[in-house]
Amino acid sequence: MKLLITGGAGFIGSHVVRRFVNAYPNELVVNLDALTYAGNLSNLSDIEQAPNYSFIKGDITQKEFIANLFRAEQFDAVIHLAAESHVDRSITGPDAFIQTNVMGTANLLNAAVESWRTHMEGKRFYHVSTDEVFGSLGAEGKFNEATAYDPRSPYSASKASSDHLVRAYHHTYGLPIVISNCSNNYGSHHFPEKLIPLIINNIKNKRPLPVYGKGENVRDWLWVEDHARAIDVIFHKGRNGETYCIGGNNEWKNIDVVRLLCRLMDTKLGRAEGESAQLITYVTDRPGHDARYAIDATKLKNELGWEPTQPFEELLSKTVDWYLSNEPWLENVTSGGYRSYYEMQYSR
Ligand code: NAD
Ligand code: TYD
Repeated sequence: MKLLITGGAGFIGSHVVRRFVNAYPNELVVNLDALTYAGNLSNLSDIEQAPNYSFIKGDITQKEFIANLFRAEQFDAVIHLAAESHVDRSITGPDAFIQTNVMGTANLLNAAVESWRTHMEGKRFYHVSTDEVFGSLGAEGKFNEATAYDPRSPYSASKASSDHLVRAYHHTYGLPIVISNCSNNYGSHHFPEKLIPLIINNIKNKRPLPVYGKGENVRDWLWVEDHARAIDVIFHKGRNGETYCIGGNNEWKNIDVVRLLCRLMDTKLGRAEGESAQLITYVTDRPGHDARYAIDATKLKNELGWEPTQPFEELLSKTVDWYLSNEPWLENVTSGGYRSYYEMQYSR
């Protein structure tokens, strides 16, 4: 079986590639990634020599390139993670999100339909999506597979569009698909533009900790390796045409996550209790900031036996340890373009 994984050099993609390469020596994993600012081959240095792994640098927005790649490689399945993924960047520059997330997904779908037209049986196009397509919750309730789409940022609207296209190709052309919508991930190799790695990096460097608005927005945090395990089980056992919601059952207000990180890191860095919390700085809120996300993952538990593991505090502590012991990784990704991004995002 030859499996194409797109976006495998990114945060979640690298965990998925590692899991599949190690767990399934008979599955050939081809990682296609454009290596944007968010893609980093050093995320995969431990498996890059594996006999069932190969890497292709390429851009999913290049229609002809993608069509030719499918003709040449004859993939049996696709797990599609490549995307522009940061909400704040989608607010300052939505075009790249529409190009990659919508048009890039359409190019992959067209190539898969063409390549598999005469033999769809046994093929699978797995589209990895987000809970943000469902919009924003009030104090009560959770998203599930039946929740109506209501995206509110250019990022979530572009992901919602791609989900709709994937379902439409299933109904119209019989493309065998599966979709998952997951809550916020955290763990190693996470680019420090997102809340948790950004706060870890800033605590480490004694820089202000930017909290949007009052810090009361709620996210449902899932350990990235639990997400990779869910993708594995859905890819191998999920039902054709179905959607599965994936979540951590782990809701936290942003300010409480930031305070917990301050506490953990004061201990680890030998700082006085409360020292890092003094760096907390409330900044202008994100426009259209979704109030709360929460996932009801009952379907995934009942059908495929998946559940999130271990307590958040323990996994977050492990996550902090990874960043503290991988300083060159952090230095590398926060040099160059990161500085101008940070300046632009946080000086307003
Ligand atoms: P990421 O930004 O860390 O990685 C994205 C990867 O895609 C990078 O390696 C990048 O180089 C690659 N890429 C971007 N544009 C490309 C293009 N045009 N062609 C080829 N490759 C391209 O993102 P992530 O956080 O790992 O998210 C992966 C997927 O999971 C995305 O589809 C995202 O919507 C989804 N998701 C993310 C989360 C989360 O919490 N991070 C939660 C749910 C779903
Ligand atoms: P983020 O990690 O960008 O994920 P998403 O927007 O996809 O949920 O942000 C998580 C939460 O943290 C979100 O409510 C916005 C907030 N946030 C801050 O308060 N400060 C920051 O510097 C960032 C990046 C995010």
